[in-house]
Amino acid sequence: MTTQHTATKELNSAHAIDTPSVLREHRTGPYYAGVPEYMIDIYDWAYVNPKHVEILDRNIVVWVLLFLNAGRLMRRYLDQIRPGMRVWQVAHVYGDLVKKVAAKIGPEGTFHLTDVVPAQIEHAQRKIGREPWVRIIRQDAASYKAEQPYDLACSFFLLHEIPEEKKFQVVDRVLENIGAEGRAVFVDYHGPALLHPIRPILKFVNWWLEPFAETMWNNSIPSYASHPEKYRWNKETLFGGVYQVVTADPIRE
Ligand SMILES: C[S@@+](CC[C@H](N)C(=O)[O-])C[C@H]1O[C@@H](n2cnc3c(N)ncnc32)[C@H](O)[C@@H]1O
Repeated sequence: MTTQHTATKELNSAHAIDTPSVLREHRTGPYYAGVPEYMIDIYDWAYVNPKHVEILDRNIVVWVLLFLNAGRLMRRYLDQIRPGMRVWQVAHVYGDLVKKVAAKIGPEGTFHLTDVVPAQIEHAQRKIGREPWVRIIRQDAASYKAEQPYDLACSFFLLHEIPEEKKFQVVDRVLENIGAEGRAVFVDYHGPALLHPIRPILKFVNWWLEPFAETMWNNSIPSYASHPEKYRWNKETLFGGVYQVVTADPIRE
């Protein structure tokens, strides 16, 4: 069994971070400072190591990872945006999604993009950093408090990549940071239909690389909210249940 498998198995059982120190030694410097341990231990290769980010930040990567469903999943988010809106996206996404979001919001609006990893901030800056209505903020989404509420907040495939306790925190922050007329959108994995051909592939990928993903198969997104009763929830599943798009609108009292 490889070191990766051992670490993943331990995380699955106890969410314990136990990477051998020999592996941690090269993971120092500005690209690693302040990065949460789960990102370094599980997702260094995918999101933290700047050399890998350089290679991976492309549309083709997103399309392959999402089994060619990227377009319609992104549209579920983009269709909610009107020019002039105040929008928060909780984490960077590879490819041109953030460019499309920024363009759709336009100069009359505000786009705040948070991410907890320096290499991701750098790439987001490169893609959209020059637009005056865009702010890219290095911040853990689990503890983000906006100065003003947003019209729209979107978590695009973040929840399945974060430890369970963070899922609760991120869902609460997304809901807290939208205004009374605002909307939260969560686009993420879901439990595939039992006979779906992709199901065994995802089972393997989750076991190998994504130790926090499988709870999304069994737990509803509202179940991560401290006050789900305060929102009107809508859920759509796509691609035989592999993906879900969940919206939450505050219920007026
Ligand atoms: C949105 S998720 C997955 C997106 C999708 N797989 C893609 O192709 O980019 C990946 C991003 O989440 C960020 N991230 C992870 N944990 C975070 C947290 N607690 N707060 C903010 N961003 C986080 C990572 O740095 C990474 O940029």
